[in-house]
Amino acid sequence: MRIDILTVLPELLKSPFEASILKRAIDAGQVEVHLHNLRDYSDKPHKQVDDYQFGGGAGMVLMIEPIEKCILQLQSERSYDQVIYMTPDGERFNQQLANRLSMCENILLLCGHYKGVDQRIRDHYITHEISIGDYVLSGGELPAAVVSDAIIRLIPGVLNNETSALTDSFQDGLLAPPVYTRPAAYKGWKVPEILISGNLPEIEKWRDEQAYQHTKERRPDLLREEEI
Ligand code: ADE
Repeated sequence: MRIDILTVLPELLKSPFEASILKRAIDAGQVEVHLHNLRDYSDKPHKQVDDYQFGGGAGMVLMIEPIEKCILQLQSERSYDQVIYMTPDGERFNQQLANRLSMCENILLLCGHYKGVDQRIRDHYITHEISIGDYVLSGGELPAAVVSDAIIRLIPGVLNNETSALTDSFQDGLLAPPVYTRPAAYKGWKVPEILISGNLPEIEKWRDEQAYQHTKERRPDLLREEEI
């Protein structure tokens, strides 16, 4: 998989890809992440990429030309399954969408800034718009890092134990059950007996029940009505 990220602040996006699972996946060639500085595509004297909005009002808008030039350049090199704009008014990101995107070959993520991008870019080039939640960040860079992380860890082989993504919260529509490690007793706080019983079917059953209870208490909205 290849992810191309278009941004006016590439520095903000470097570190997430230089550590942890993401770096390992990149080093192993399981994913390529390319950052593109939109200023490099500006024809203006001071590499300007934004301008005042028509109609007046506070806040600058990212101009069409540098974004279009960058998108067209990339699209001339390969085809993209999705050209995604990160924006608070996009589709709310969730595990289901991460699963879908993890099956793509090439995706392009455009980060907005200031008041956003000229609407004509959205109308003519963007195939999907994603929000990571109902709050406004100062740009689309952190959302692009969030979406990339969620997708990359789902690519087969990226996680050491391939089944571990399957037991994540949300993967089966439920929150994950609690987990424990050694010591089995600490300051008198004991690990649930069942987990050290060695009885795998019973452990599985306990985990399912815990996941269900946990979801019912914290996120009843995730359970379908008839299950509550
Ligand atoms: N850009 C600014 N806020 C955002 C959000 N919540 N989701 C996606 N992109 C954004």
